[in-house]
Amino acid sequence: MKFFVDTADVAAIAELNDLGMVDGVTTNPSLIMKSGRDIIEVTKEICDLVEGPVSAEVVALEADEMIAEGRKLAEIAENICVKVPLTWAGLKTCKTLSDAGTKVNVTLCFSANQALLAAKAGATFISPFIGRLDDINVDGLDLIADIRTIYDNYAFETEILAASIRSVNHMKDCALIGADVCTAPPGVIKKMADHPLTKSGLDAFMADWAKTGQKIL
Ligand code: E4P
Repeated sequence: MKFFVDTADVAAIAELNDLGMVDGVTTNPSLIMKSGRDIIEVTKEICDLVEGPVSAEVVALEADEMIAEGRKLAEIAENICVKVPLTWAGLKTCKTLSDAGTKVNVTLCFSANQALLAAKAGATFISPFIGRLDDINVDGLDLIADIRTIYDNYAFETEILAASIRSVNHMKDCALIGADVCTAPPGVIKKMADHPLTKSGLDAFMADWAKTGQKIL
């Protein structure tokens, strides 16, 4: 499973990228707002840092303007993936940009039927939002499993990019289901290394080591 980082915080991306944990990046208008940076400037910086796809989202609601925004975003770098919402205008934009060879991430997906439409429109990635479904008492992981089955049934090449990840369990469950990619905030990815038994085991080893009075270096 590929790891994308869901942030526009360049320092946080760089830290994980240095460890080989970053296969791509996703941003959205809220994350750009949070960064306090200009969208073109920060996106270019991220694209220069990371080899994999970097999703940058359009903000128009009508197809013609979305397509124009998508083309402008695609000019930022080779690894730009234009992010469009799952609306008819977004699907039209997806088809137009995909046909022209631009990578497209269709976002704000909350149903298997929406994912089916995105695949037929040629999406590179479909982004089902797990956490936001969980927020309304719908199991977001069921959606990932349904999309996996449908895409496998028909050999669609669109990759499932599990989004709105809130916990390390989401990461594990998405990997078990077979999501192609998970995009998660840096904090969630870092938490995957934590285990209380690792911590207590290390504390005990350090205490015993101190008693030996030895040094390795
Ligand atoms: C995905 O591409 C989105 O940017 C993101 O995962 C949304 O997550 P949220 O529901 O935590 O805002």
